[in-house]
Amino acid sequence: MKFGPIHVIRDRTYSSLLRQIDATKPSNETQRLQEALDRARQELQLLGVDVESDDRFGPEIPKQLHLTPRLGGEGHEYVEPPTPAPSPLASFNVLDGWISQFEIDGEKVGGAVGLSTDERIEWLMNSIGGVAGKRLLELGPLEGAHTKMLCDADAASVVAVEGSRALWLHCLVIKEIFHLDQARFIYGDFNHYVADYDGPPFDAVLACGMLYHQFDPVTLIAKLSSLTDTVMVWTHVADDDYPPNGVPTEVSGYKGRRMDYGDARNEFRNYCGGTAQEAVWLYHDDLICCFTDNGFARIESRGVSPTPAGPAVLFAASR
Ligand SMILES: C[S@@+](CC[C@H](N)C(=O)[O-])C[C@H]1O[C@@H](n2cnc3c(N)ncnc32)[C@H](O)[C@@H]1O
Repeated sequence: MKFGPIHVIRDRTYSSLLRQIDATKPSNETQRLQEALDRARQELQLLGVDVESDDRFGPEIPKQLHLTPRLGGEGHEYVEPPTPAPSPLASFNVLDGWISQFEIDGEKVGGAVGLSTDERIEWLMNSIGGVAGKRLLELGPLEGAHTKMLCDADAASVVAVEGSRALWLHCLVIKEIFHLDQARFIYGDFNHYVADYDGPPFDAVLACGMLYHQFDPVTLIAKLSSLTDTVMVWTHVADDDYPPNGVPTEVSGYKGRRMDYGDARNEFRNYCGGTAQEAVWLYHDDLICCFTDNGFARIESRGVSPTPAGPAVLFAASR
């Protein structure tokens, strides 16, 4: 269905205006375009379109820009870029907003974070005697950099559950570029996946960088105990200063501090936190108790280290 011409946006349809905004942000034109969008919504209402209930006509400019394939062409028009010869780099460049750094054809590409050579993952894999031949579950793979490490270390299979639409698409690109044939990326909230899982147990679960983003990490840890004997963990833990503005809380008897992430999920282009607005950071001792109380009696830990974002602990928990 097309709406146009509409005089406030000249000869553009609403959707072409959205594409124009996508193509230009960030820029000092954003404010002007937002105003144009507001006026366009008013115009559409005058034309009898129910903009409030029709989700094609949202009130704000789209924030998840990294869902948008790179745009080509001059100015603000959407133009399909010249189609390159097929190559891993060409596929990589279909999406922007990369956080992790990857090496493709000898070139370092993507973001600044060296997750595809992450020594925490090396340490965790070593501490459980390697992952070769093992069936793994990964919670929150981000863009698949750790998944790639697990596959490169000969995991038999990796099921990776990612809750961000944009990040999940990045994972799919990585799967294709690096032939991660034993990996399967599932889009959705892993709390549901873990709660509903009734398949054969996993040999190990990778829980890196995601426990401190959960509304109820205690229930998640308890559920994990029913589907695996081994969990590899890196997570922030609470102390007097972290999380910033954390409110003391207790979850099923385990102490921590509750953090309110506000509207960050909608505000940051590269948001890679949890699916809920609030999350609980457990204190270190409470976190370890939560694992041991759920039957993970053996904890091999590298201890707590300070990081700019708060104290963090690296450990493998197993029966
Ligand atoms: C801080 S990042 C850590 C990414 C990666 N595992 C690492 O350690 O570098 C958290 C990741 O978990 C995902 N995530 C957080 N909570 C989730 C949930 N409940 N369900 C699915 N994915 C989730 C985020 O989208 C993001 O990819």
